[in-house]
Amino acid sequence: MSKHFCQSLSRWILLPSAVAALTFLSGCRQDMQNQPKMIPQRESLFFPSGRSVRPQVPGTVARNQGDADSYFQTGLVNNQVQDRMPFPVNMTVLRKGQERFNIYCTPCHSRLGNGRGMIVERGYKPAGNLLEPRIAGEPMGHYFAVITHGYGAMPDYAAQISVQDRWAIVAYIRALQLSQNATLQDVPPGTNVQKLSEVSEQMGYSAQFPEQWTLPELTNVPGAGDMHSDLVGQKQAMPASAQNAPKNSFKKNSRHTGTK
Ligand code: HEC
Repeated sequence: MSKHFCQSLSRWILLPSAVAALTFLSGCRQDMQNQPKMIPQRESLFFPSGRSVRPQVPGTVARNQGDADSYFQTGLVNNQVQDRMPFPVNMTVLRKGQERFNIYCTPCHSRLGNGRGMIVERGYKPAGNLLEPRIAGEPMGHYFAVITHGYGAMPDYAAQISVQDRWAIVAYIRALQLSQNATLQDVPPGTNVQKLSEVSEQMGYSAQFPEQWTLPELTNVPGAGDMHSDLVGQKQAMPASAQNAPKNSFKKNSRHTGTK
């Protein structure tokens, strides 16, 4: 027999036997595949109830689940918003609330909470005036719900602000509302109360600084078409889209008409 013939014969015999052997062996595997175990949500003959899933030990709390139904987490009791804080308020809480409010809420509601934040001044849907009687009359749980779930055109801040800090903001909203309508009778007798105009002058501003003010019209915006002559050189360096931007392209209240 030639060497060549032997080689091709062995190839023809060896290959199928290898395949057969592998198939046979895999049918015989006796590894952890066949261990007695529970598959989630499948029935089981082991327990009298026929369920593989075991009932939770009473009082079991999943991680992060905490007291998910508590007033602290929801602002609700029997599905009703309440007008109270879930924990005592002190100056530390109020300062935290002020800090968070100034970071997250002032762009639309302004530092006063009157709804005249910079984004609104530049065209966002008017934000609620937190000092106005209807909104000021809402229970604290309502503010908590608005921050947690959003409200109309207002996005929610659940991801950015912890539950604890949301309540701190709620407390600070109450402080803002009180501060704006406070009278001399609200402070202990003999307290030195200054007018805002005096504080303003002491800080080096004009006496009129705390009064209502309006933003100037949006003209002379670079790229808006009517730039100052010494900016003309820069115009060439700007992308065409910016150069062609229409003048006063932010129209008041023309965007974001959310629904309640
Ligand atoms: C991006 C702008 C924006 C930001 C930031 C924002 N709000 Fe608002 N907020 C709005 C707008 C707009 C409305 C009015 C929504 C409507 O009536 O459709 C509103 C309404 C409200 C109301 C009134 C709800 C009612 O009963 O009418 C409350 C309270 C409120 N916001 C609280 C907050 C707090 C607290 C923060 C900060 C955590 C915040 N908002 C941040 C835009 C904003």
